[in-house]
Amino acid sequence: MWNRAKFIFAIVTIGLCLSANPSLAQQAASQVSKAEHAHSKAQGPWWKQAVIYEIYPRSFQDSNGDGVGDINGITSRLDYLRDLGIDAIWISPMYPSPLVDFGYDISDYTAIDPLYGTLADFDRMVREAKKRNIRVIMDFVPNHTSDQHPWFAESRSSRTVPKRDWYIWRDGKGPGQPPNNWQSWFGHSAWKFDPTTNQYYYHHFYTEQPDLNWRNPQVRKAMYDAMRFWLDRGVAGFRIDAVSRLFEDPDLHDDPILPGKNAYGDPNIAHKYTDNLPEVHEVLREMRKVVNEYPGNPVLISEADEPNIAELTKMYGGKDDEVQLPMDFQIADVNKRSAPEFRRLLNEIDKNAAGGQPHYFFSNHDQVRQWDRYGDGVHNDQIAKLMAALLLTTRATPLMYYGEEIGMRTTDPVRKEDVQDPIGKIGWPEEKGRDGERTPMQWDASKNAGFSAAQRPWLPVPPSSTEYNVKAESKDPNSILSFYKRLLALRQSEPALRDGLYLPLIGEDPYVLAYLRKKPNNSDVILVVLNMSAEPRTVKFDLAAEGIGDSSAKPLIASPEMGRDSTLLSHFIIPEFGVFIGSVH
Ligand code: GLC
Repeated sequence: MWNRAKFIFAIVTIGLCLSANPSLAQQAASQVSKAEHAHSKAQGPWWKQAVIYEIYPRSFQDSNGDGVGDINGITSRLDYLRDLGIDAIWISPMYPSPLVDFGYDISDYTAIDPLYGTLADFDRMVREAKKRNIRVIMDFVPNHTSDQHPWFAESRSSRTVPKRDWYIWRDGKGPGQPPNNWQSWFGHSAWKFDPTTNQYYYHHFYTEQPDLNWRNPQVRKAMYDAMRFWLDRGVAGFRIDAVSRLFEDPDLHDDPILPGKNAYGDPNIAHKYTDNLPEVHEVLREMRKVVNEYPGNPVLISEADEPNIAELTKMYGGKDDEVQLPMDFQIADVNKRSAPEFRRLLNEIDKNAAGGQPHYFFSNHDQVRQWDRYGDGVHNDQIAKLMAALLLTTRATPLMYYGEEIGMRTTDPVRKEDVQDPIGKIGWPEEKGRDGERTPMQWDASKNAGFSAAQRPWLPVPPSSTEYNVKAESKDPNSILSFYKRLLALRQSEPALRDGLYLPLIGEDPYVLAYLRKKPNNSDVILVVLNMSAEPRTVKFDLAAEGIGDSSAKPLIASPEMGRDSTLLSHFIIPEFGVFIGSVH
């Protein structure tokens, strides 16, 4: 990663040294740019080959015994991430925040919350990460601030202050009646009455998270300057939170009502007038220009649960001028082990009209963990390996969530009074909130699983941590962790897996998902076979049309283990929930 100031300094210095001899300067410049060009052409930008790992900082490693994870804790675990084979970490927000939404309610975009450490700690973490070839990606929350942000304090103070228009203020329809029927994603009306000025403000999420007005140019400038602040400190890009929610219909049309009620007891509605408005793309293009000001190919990742491939494709921009990696929620949320469904979605995104890089994940801080969501209750460990193989062998930039590599499971609170996440309090018992997927990382079998020396960490450590932890699993060659490590190492050593073409096979099979990954001229070809069903299956591959002469495949990684013998392609037996990754020629 480059620090922008250092980059400018280097350019100026080179310029001063070489200006005495212009021909030498020209030669040097052309050599540098040719070499750089050739290198980036051969490799592509780093984020195309990277494996990204999400860290929820409250829960990764506590270094000071207060029961909450912190920056120095992350720094102390960088060796673990390097050895695992991680190229970049995305860290959920660590900005100053009243923590109503645990950091997604920001009260200062250019500082670090003392709970997590200091800016100096942050800089040290970025430096230490860089030494290990790990990039740091910041979470960026443009849709809303905290209601404690000084911008909002000014905005709510009077109808005539300059920052009034930085947020969305409207009159109610009548006494006690909000401006329209829009609902918060977190339950109930999206409008909150503010008695100081007798108007309502709009909040897509909690009432403590007022939405910024992205139609105001000053808001845009302030937010882009905040991005530059972190790029100047050497971050490698941003995961942009809730990006599709940036704009609302200025005419305040009511959203269409759908049948039934949601977990909060409100009527279901389609968020037609508050989601995915076309202006979102204008902002994404502007954000892309901001990151493009910096060397080193900083990346934009968008959080947007796009409903279909057409909407997802739009996120890349018409001219590769928006987001490089839009998260694919369709793949994340298939929520069943369906070979046909995964095949359909993988094929769709592989051929997306924008030619964009797919970006897959299964778990994150808002989703029930994949161990529970894809497991069948009996073979969950084997299924965890199956899902890992799917994530790490398809043509995509994979995104992991801390703990998935050790088979961490979702551990929901059992009593309402233990719930930390406000949506669990509002929606209890139907909606238990997101605490279950945010429990502390399980490092070993010691007190609090090695996460914290505190009496009580902010969320309880699940009982399963005595068996499922980094230390125990590192010693067991059959553990989920050992499997992830082997997969990640194979991705590194096999160019076909990193950036080869994706070629779906046996397109009609109801249970087995299979594909080739291959480099041009078949210089490196990998066959991946994943049995998503609870029965052994026999399939037949005819790869002659792909220029493959072999009649069998040589295993590189298989689970369950199957020895080193090659497997016949014409009579290929794959065990229940089995994974086979092998080479063919
Ligand atoms: C995103 C975050 C989620 C947060 C919400 C509001 O969806 O991932 O954790 O609650 O935005 O900021």
